[in-house]
Amino acid sequence: MVTVRGFTFSSRPNMKLSFFFLLQFTVFVLSCFAFSLANAGNVTYDHRSLIINGQHKLLISAAIHYPRSVPAMWPGLVQTAKEGGVDVIETYVFWNGHELSPGNYYFGGRYDLVKFVKIVREAGLYLILRIGPFVAAEWNFGGVPVWLHYVPGTVFRTDNEPFKHYMEKFTTFIVNLMKQEKLFASQGGPIILAQVENEYGYYESAYGEGGKRYAMWAASMAVSQNIGVPWIMCQQFDAPDTVIDTCNSFYCDQFKPLSPNKPKIWTENWPGWFKTFGSRDPHRPPEDVAFSVARFFQKGGSVQNYYMYHGGTNFGRTSGGPFITTSYDYDAPIDEYGLPRFPKWGHLKELHGAIKLCEHALLNGEPTHMSLGPSQEADVYTDSSGACAAFISNIDEKNDKTVEFQNASYHLPAWSVSILPDCKNVVFNTAKVRAQTTVVEMVAEDLQPSVASPDKGVKALKWEIFVEKVGVWGEADFIKNGFVDHINTTKDDTDYLWYTTSIFVSENEAFLKKGSQPVLFIESKGHALHAFVNQKLEASASGNGTNPPFKFKKPVSLKAGKNEIALLSMTVGLQNAGSFYEWVGAGLTSVKIEGFNNGTVDLSSNAWTYKIGLQGEHLGLYKSDGMDNINWLSTPEPPKEQPLTWYKAIVDAPPGDEPIGLDMIHMGKGLAWLNGEEIGRYWPWKSSVHDKCVKECDYRGKFMPDKCFTGCGEPTQRWYHIPRSWFKPSGNILAIFEEKGGDPTKISFSRRKTSGVCAVVAEDYPSFELEPEHENGDVSTKNNAAIFLNCPKNTRISTVKFASFGTPTGTCGSYSKGECHDPKSISVVEKMCLNKSECAIELIEENFSKGLCPDATKKLAVEAVCS
Ligand code: GAL
Repeated sequence: MVTVRGFTFSSRPNMKLSFFFLLQFTVFVLSCFAFSLANAGNVTYDHRSLIINGQHKLLISAAIHYPRSVPAMWPGLVQTAKEGGVDVIETYVFWNGHELSPGNYYFGGRYDLVKFVKIVREAGLYLILRIGPFVAAEWNFGGVPVWLHYVPGTVFRTDNEPFKHYMEKFTTFIVNLMKQEKLFASQGGPIILAQVENEYGYYESAYGEGGKRYAMWAASMAVSQNIGVPWIMCQQFDAPDTVIDTCNSFYCDQFKPLSPNKPKIWTENWPGWFKTFGSRDPHRPPEDVAFSVARFFQKGGSVQNYYMYHGGTNFGRTSGGPFITTSYDYDAPIDEYGLPRFPKWGHLKELHGAIKLCEHALLNGEPTHMSLGPSQEADVYTDSSGACAAFISNIDEKNDKTVEFQNASYHLPAWSVSILPDCKNVVFNTAKVRAQTTVVEMVAEDLQPSVASPDKGVKALKWEIFVEKVGVWGEADFIKNGFVDHINTTKDDTDYLWYTTSIFVSENEAFLKKGSQPVLFIESKGHALHAFVNQKLEASASGNGTNPPFKFKKPVSLKAGKNEIALLSMTVGLQNAGSFYEWVGAGLTSVKIEGFNNGTVDLSSNAWTYKIGLQGEHLGLYKSDGMDNINWLSTPEPPKEQPLTWYKAIVDAPPGDEPIGLDMIHMGKGLAWLNGEEIGRYWPWKSSVHDKCVKECDYRGKFMPDKCFTGCGEPTQRWYHIPRSWFKPSGNILAIFEEKGGDPTKISFSRRKTSGVCAVVAEDYPSFELEPEHENGDVSTKNNAAIFLNCPKNTRISTVKFASFGTPTGTCGSYSKGECHDPKSISVVEKMCLNKSECAIELIEENFSKGLCPDATKKLAVEAVCS
């Protein structure tokens, strides 16, 4: 048994104190602890860490972006983070969500920043406020309002007067708002750090001397705000001494702040990655995330933030890009829908517990570095009271290794760190995932006509439709020879811009006689395009770039006489990072038709007639007060595969309380709303079947986003999150705008349901239990591994689908027995778990035949159904 600062790690879990009692006990202890911290007071720092109210701190921080969920979800998300062992919530501030036009501020709904910060305070957690106000973040235009690009003379992120003026004004506004509400730690609030700019170091040189001046100006502008807590700048390689420079990367153990009196802070550890439409789904294995975090604290780190801990959703048109998906799930520890992602969330929770057990020694001890082999090392922290904590790591990417450390042997899997809060007993190894995993399903629920709709009692859902005109509707906005830039024209008020022209075809054209087709050849800066010829959708394409632009060719039907060419150009999220990113344009650059008697006809310098946006958007058809602006066509059989169609239906909320996704796999591309709330862009664009995907991810070795993809040949995003709080009990208006054609009768809701739990633990896994200290301070080195299962709220283990103690193989959902199998396995697990919402099974002789196949390291694998 190991005694660490009032807690005892038991080698033998005390089964009277259930794991969950202990877990809650831990949360209780942590929350009392955190509560006193949340009224933070004075925040300073030294080379080792932040010092809050005179105390050095090790801090685990979790990024949750407030507009990427809804206020109804915030308390639950913050609570789940806290239960995951997090001390701090981090968020950017989203300028373009707040300053809608110069001086016109919005802080309602998802943008209620003050409410969010107060929820964090109420939970007893700290907050890091990354004001930016440039943020990148895969957010539209990197968070900077589009209107600022059109303020004459403005150049973003350099020594430019208009930019600095508006940046300072907004920063000051946010700072004053926080001050008014007493939210800075210096005022007794939760905010312990603030950030100015974001990763400017990568781009500074592109802006020449002005870049350097701007970076220094940003720092001093921030510091002059007098917030009473330190300012940080991330990836700012020349940050002045008045701010703390911090690291963003998949690994930051080797990071050294610019000055020896600054603490080592990691603002962005990416525990997954974002997705783009048409691409595969990236995953970062939990073993590697844990490895990176453990290495950071091993090497003297003091604040570590997961970017993201909950990624959430890019509702409406907030995603950056181009092509960032509406889902910003990020493979984060809390999934897009707000459920803890297992085993990642659980594995990191254990890691945080293990690190916290070392906190005193880490912060007060002197580090000693020891080499234990070519790629193996220990960092040992011993303080004056004799407390000792050690991290031993094996950074070999392939080979496990047994090392000798302080007269004992330790087996270290490849690419792993073991944590020894007493310098003797391993309580956690980053590569040994004991945490349960869950079986999560999207359970389809047909759309149900609302009981409150006028058709009460009618079974079939009633769809109403409105079809957009192809090309210019109403009055043209303007006519111009040649092309305009798409973004300069829409100012991003809409994704859509019509470019229309016509071409006269003489009867003598050979293709008319031969019945062949000429070829439409389009070049565009992006991002997507639908080409209509004589009202008919002939082609759709997407791509991005100025040099070269994206190009596509498509044979089209032309008739003798006048032919109408109507090209619907679309943006799919504006650029969110890069030097001079605000100048990146979009839209058509060349339109030609090949195959005429005289060769190719270039329409590029034709007179083009332009129309900004859709009629339905203009009328606000998706809002309750705009719906009556037209006569919808009511139809029990809505048209299928019909482009440019608005669909509307009045539906009931799906039963239950699970989170909801809108299943759009049978639709093309467009926008969706519920009760006027913007669900976002949908586009179930499939990644190529020829792409490379992995069945299982090898966690070992340096992670890059292209390492572990799943979802080859599947839509990047099939389901679109609709927060429960957007639903009324009945009479919900679902509105869809479909661009190219789909089958609305196949749209359904899906409930995100956790239907089962799985876990695998091997005999040699450390046991990790918190218990009140034993009176005699008994120390035993024997550890019993155990499995802990926990079904979601209001459900119990109804069936044990699989249990094998021995050498089972496979993964959750496909376990099978190995050569070595204890036949008692199922009955033991059933006895301990059936009809319980949680249970613990130790790998001990009382439960299993430990003597079985003595040469093998045995493990227990369990899969159970929760219902
Ligand atoms: C960082 C940036 C973040 C986010 C991240 C990738 O470089 O600071 O805002 O864009 O990359 O998710």
